[in-house]
Amino acid sequence: MIVITGATGVVGRPLVDLLAAQGIPVRAVTRTPTAEFPAGVDVVEGTPSEPETMASALRGATALFLNPRAVGDAAHELVALAARHDVRRVVALAAANVDDDPADQPSRFRGDRNAEAEDAAVASGLEWVSLRPTSFAGNTLSAWGEQIRAGDVVRFVYPAFEESLIDERDLVEVAAYALLKEDLLGRRVVLTGPQSLSHAEMVAVIGDVLGRSLRYQEIRPEAATQGMVARGIPEPFVTALMRRYATHLDQPQHPPTHEVEKILGRPARSFAVWVDDHAAAFEQRARVPG
Ligand SMILES: NC(=O)c1ccc[n+]([C@@H]2O[C@H](COP(=O)([O-])OP(=O)(O)OC[C@H]3O[C@@H](n4cnc5c(N)ncnc54)[C@H](OP(=O)(O)O)[C@@H]3O)[C@@H](O)[C@H]2O)c1
Repeated sequence: MIVITGATGVVGRPLVDLLAAQGIPVRAVTRTPTAEFPAGVDVVEGTPSEPETMASALRGATALFLNPRAVGDAAHELVALAARHDVRRVVALAAANVDDDPADQPSRFRGDRNAEAEDAAVASGLEWVSLRPTSFAGNTLSAWGEQIRAGDVVRFVYPAFEESLIDERDLVEVAAYALLKEDLLGRRVVLTGPQSLSHAEMVAVIGDVLGRSLRYQEIRPEAATQGMVARGIPEPFVTALMRRYATHLDQPQHPPTHEVEKILGRPARSFAVWVDDHAAAFEQRARVPG
């Protein structure tokens, strides 16, 4: 039985679906056990950040997928509990930037303890794998979707900042592999997309795929910060994001590692493919009444 924390989320839900589709016994842990899952998935109520709620989730488990967002500060405690339940393997979701200055890691300011999840897996005495993905392709939709739905100008910072976004589906396939196979054990695997793209190039790709003439208009970090905070994004997160971009302007952050291709035996999905598969989300323009 493979236990997935963060099972209703961006990574967890498709991971549960993929394992279930392969006929692997899988248990989805959620704070909301009414959440719908495919037939055959064992849905168990639990709050991974409160390990005392996790005994029934861990009973009979052989492997545990640790999502830091769901696990919070409790990674070490939860992994120790898993070991006492005879869990044999822990696969931690971490991030490519876990070794960076914490002030440059925006996710830390929303409570993600990615380094701690990795450390807990490594120190567990169990079989372990740590997955270190780069930024998810879906972040572009959160950052620019509203502007692209409203018009053809994307106002954002640092057009030259480059990184190799990962298609979340590739991360999910590698996570399933790490849970099931032996050859990633004991590794911290940096997972990227196939190509570094600058912010301006990402917007150009979105425009090409949508058949639109999108224009990137650089704005100052102060203006971007003000806009993001006004949209409800916590200021410490935005400050760290701006620091991350500024720190890595000289060269791409996390250039392609090609690990996805080495592990899955086929190339990582390109950003253009991701955009094509999510085009509708960029195109739901507000209807003009009348
Ligand atoms: N986005 C990126 O670019 C990126 C890149 C690299 C690494 N990461 C890392 O990936 C992880 C996030 O994975 P994800 O996108 O799959 O997460 P997610 O979809 O935001 O959340 C996963 C699940 O965790 C539970 N959860 C969310 N917030 C919680 C909270 N405050 N307390 C307790 N449980 C909570 C929810 O499950 P229930 O409500 O069902 O309990 C949720 O469905 C983070 O550690 C992040 O740093 C992200």
